[in-house]
Amino acid sequence: MITETLASRATYSLVQEVRAGLLKTGQKELPAKCFYDDVGSALFEAICHLPEYGLTRADERIMRRYSEAMVSHLAAPVVVAELGCGSGRKTRWILEALSRRQPVVYHPIEISASALATCRRELDDIDSLRIAGFESEYLDGLLHVAAHRPVHQHILVLFLGSTIGNFDRPAGIRFLQQVRRILRPGDALLLGTDLEKPVSQLIAAYDDSLGVTAAFNLNVLARLNRELDADFRLDQFRHLARYNYHERRIEMHLLSTLEQTVTVPAAELMVTFRAGETIWTESSHKYNLPEVRQLAQQSGFRCENQWLDEEWPFAESLLIAQ
Ligand SMILES: C[S@@+](CC[C@H](N)C(=O)[O-])C[C@H]1O[C@@H](n2cnc3c(N)ncnc32)[C@H](O)[C@@H]1O
Repeated sequence: MITETLASRATYSLVQEVRAGLLKTGQKELPAKCFYDDVGSALFEAICHLPEYGLTRADERIMRRYSEAMVSHLAAPVVVAELGCGSGRKTRWILEALSRRQPVVYHPIEISASALATCRRELDDIDSLRIAGFESEYLDGLLHVAAHRPVHQHILVLFLGSTIGNFDRPAGIRFLQQVRRILRPGDALLLGTDLEKPVSQLIAAYDDSLGVTAAFNLNVLARLNRELDADFRLDQFRHLARYNYHERRIEMHLLSTLEQTVTVPAAELMVTFRAGETIWTESSHKYNLPEVRQLAQQSGFRCENQWLDEEWPFAESLLIAQ
């Protein structure tokens, strides 16, 4: 096992994201990627262990049970690239299944340096695995992997944990089309999607009784205080998780409990909030199986197989680039 970081560059400009999101007329927003500093990545890991958040355990059950079957559908040899690996814990199963067939090169692609480091530690005991991570945005890392692959090698892209659900549906199609354009026919994408389920179950998952998801959400303001010298009063904002029935998604917001003005000096910003006004911080879209197959088709893939968890409806779909 060898590990290295191939590229480490400024992944995005927090200042630009904050200016664009907080200066929006109408609904203020901060993109979900702003959650993931060291504290945010640690809080996300804690969320994955919460009793209410069955999503990660469902995904892991699928990966553990079906990785051998998944690998049997793949052309050989393959290099593995994972978009937003997080801790990498669920990825172990498919890497082990692949490494029984061939020596494996694994490229975790992450904007969070601490998640990348955790992932490396998590997987560094797998025999004949070489880990070469990218601290970069999804497509920058994938472009690099594709540009440097040997001629006869296929790529298996992993996009687990229903992270696709952070994109609204049209943006999700556009993103998968961009992934497809980087790939060659016969390359594969394993796509995790959280499926529709009772709204009460979803609300509990995104507003847990211990308040860890609330802390995860509020940490984005704490991060702006730490990194951009902002003066958000965390006690004057409240975590809000609600289900949007029309869009079939959970939305997380930070609600200003009173009228207030916040300054963000490093972004040269002064922002006013009305009492009850929110910053929209994350969407988690929910899917059904035919919709995932249609998503595959619209983005230039065919759906080879789908594996499900029955306990917490969740699907891993193996898509092959056409
Ligand atoms: C919802 S978490 C999922 C983590 C893991 N895949 C799982 O299933 O548990 C999303 C991960 O993607 C990373 N991430 C978010 N936006 C990203 C981007 N634009 N480029 C690269 N990584 C990103 C985050 O740091 C985080 O670790």
